[in-house]
Amino acid sequence: MFAKFATRQFSSTASSAYKVSILGAAGGIGQPLSLLMKLNHKVTKLSLYDLRLGAGVATDISHIPTNSVVKGYGPEDDGLSKALEGADVVLIPAGVPRKPGMTRDDLFNTNASIVRDLAKACADHCPNAAICVISNPVNSTVPIVAEVLKSKNVYNPKKLFGVTTLDVLRASRFLSEVVGTNPVHEHVTVVGGHSGITIVPLISQTNHKNLPKETYDALVHRIQFGGDEVVQAKGGAGSATLSMAQAGARFASAVLDGLAGEKDVVEPAFVDSPLFKNEGVEFFSSKVTLGVDGIKHIHGLGELTNAEQEMINTAKETLVKNIEKGVNFVKQNP
Ligand code: NAD
Ligand code: LMR
Repeated sequence: MFAKFATRQFSSTASSAYKVSILGAAGGIGQPLSLLMKLNHKVTKLSLYDLRLGAGVATDISHIPTNSVVKGYGPEDDGLSKALEGADVVLIPAGVPRKPGMTRDDLFNTNASIVRDLAKACADHCPNAAICVISNPVNSTVPIVAEVLKSKNVYNPKKLFGVTTLDVLRASRFLSEVVGTNPVHEHVTVVGGHSGITIVPLISQTNHKNLPKETYDALVHRIQFGGDEVVQAKGGAGSATLSMAQAGARFASAVLDGLAGEKDVVEPAFVDSPLFKNEGVEFFSSKVTLGVDGIKHIHGLGELTNAEQEMINTAKETLVKNIEKGVNFVKQNP
């Protein structure tokens, strides 16, 4: 009994120690995401910032006996800079969610300035942190963060991520429902961006390449518009929060594994990508290998069917506009 306890103690202290800061930590995503990050043994300092309730959520979570010190902050007393000081990883779920009938782009007017201001604080207080953006519209908020960091001369494209992991989770789940398998064993690469037709699942790269056309079309549509299912079901009370927290925690955990030097840590993410830069698409989601400096390698898309190639072409047209919108916002509203 004692030996088992001692082994556990050893393995948790032997893992690397990181500070993770969550901005928007008291929201629908923020709270369960904070909980899941409290359970991650690589996290030794967890900073929870929100306009309201940051301290309350932090006190609640701090009673969980894992090896991290949790602190909560609000905007008073320079809370944001304290929350960010020394952070290795920053997770940003701050901002408003959709209501039925809205697109993610409809959130731009509210969320663009929230994300811009938080990015400025990251540039000032933790310029070396890996920044993971959850706030929508991701296709535009990630370029907003990049523009802000560039304007402050601290942009490191290897450490900026748009979190698209929820699309990957949904793709595994929905595919398994169609083919009758255990979703744990279904791994679907999802590329492009994070909204409707920019979400492109590469089903041909799974073990289920020969689905009947109708089944395939319905599956792709469900993956692309899975967010709408949740928005409808919540009837005006928000969008995906719990599944997103799981997705965010999985992605953050991969980033931490990479920083800790673990091998073969691969997740898709929306990043500053060379894949289609020559066509004006500055950011694109594809599989990324994570390492001690953030992105170690951005993977190509692999072999595609004609249908997938067409979806990617369509996605690129929308992505160019979404990215430009984010860049222009910062230029016009620095
Ligand atoms: P929510 O309204 O429940 O929570 C948002 C939180 O952000 C609130 O607690 C609010 O006080 C806080 N906030 C607002 N402005 C802030 C600021 N300037 N600084 C710090 N905190 C601030 O919303 P939610 O359901 O948690 O969703 C948050 C965002 O995540 C939305 O934009 C939503 O569209 C997006 N989202 C993205 C994905 C994805 O896959 N990337 C999935 C689901 C939701
Ligand atoms: C999702 O995919 O669930 C999120 O982007 C939230 C939304 O607005 O659908």
